[in-house]
Amino acid sequence: MAAAAPELERRPGQTLRASSVSRSFAGVEALRAVSLELRRGEVLGLIGPNGAGKSTLVNLLSGFDRPTHGQVLLDGRDVTRWRASRRGRSGLARTFQHSHAFRGLSVRENVEVSALGVGAAPNEASRRADELLGLLGLAGYADAPASALAHGDERRLGVARALATRPRYVLLDEPAAGLPEAEVPAFASVVRSVRDDHGAGVLLIDHNMTLIMEVCDRIQVLDQGETLAEGTPDEIRSNLDVAAAYLGESAVVEEDA
Ligand SMILES: Nc1ncnc2c1ncn2[C@@H]1O[C@H](COP(=O)(O)OP(=O)(O)OP(=O)(O)O)[C@@H](O)[C@H]1O
Ligand SMILES: [Mg+2]
Repeated sequence: MAAAAPELERRPGQTLRASSVSRSFAGVEALRAVSLELRRGEVLGLIGPNGAGKSTLVNLLSGFDRPTHGQVLLDGRDVTRWRASRRGRSGLARTFQHSHAFRGLSVRENVEVSALGVGAAPNEASRRADELLGLLGLAGYADAPASALAHGDERRLGVARALATRPRYVLLDEPAAGLPEAEVPAFASVVRSVRDDHGAGVLLIDHNMTLIMEVCDRIQVLDQGETLAEGTPDEIRSNLDVAAAYLGESAVVEEDA
């Protein structure tokens, strides 16, 4: 079973929480009093149509943006005003919908830099880079410049960079976009292993409902800046309100622009 399970039992209540957060952009409310709780050792899916507020919520949780109202709590501590870098050193990592890789560095160096950034020694950083590039199917590109990667590979490099920090909580913003359907099961295994082998809490945003339903322990649905539903994959699947939110939006098959 999960290597980290005994640790989790000793330290229950380890969570990353958004408590009734709101965020307005020039009068447009991207989020209205949304709460979310990500526990260690679970995969929480965050789904909803384009523009629902998913990335905005990830920005607030990770410290790349601040809520207009509400709080963010990391293991019970109010981190609402903490910078992203400080949250990173406290065990929080994220990926971006659009590449944040260092384009002039090689794929391997990009992962090493992430590990070094949280204090790993150089040989440990190299070890993590090799392990993660293998895990994410990027070993063949290790020495290529990051700028040479195709869009889908770039997303997985983002995942490798996030995991190189050995996070306790990791927020994945559409990491499987652009991934061929045949490679989705292998990616699902990576997500499970982050949960089971490392005991991390994984927040997974994706429009691929097969991946979401297969890998998530719980799912929260956002629509127009509000929580529409939350529950197990079975509960969400049978929730007619959720289906209604998708009608006309075709969000299940939408990808980011
Ligand atoms: N920096 C910003 N300035 C102005 N409006 C913004 C900003 N960031 C987000 N928004 C708006 O907030 C709303 C939510 O956007 P967000 O990117 O969080 O949606 P999303 O659920 O991640 O969508 P997608 O599935 O397309 O990635 C949208 O209406 C968007 O236009
Ligand atoms: Mg988004």
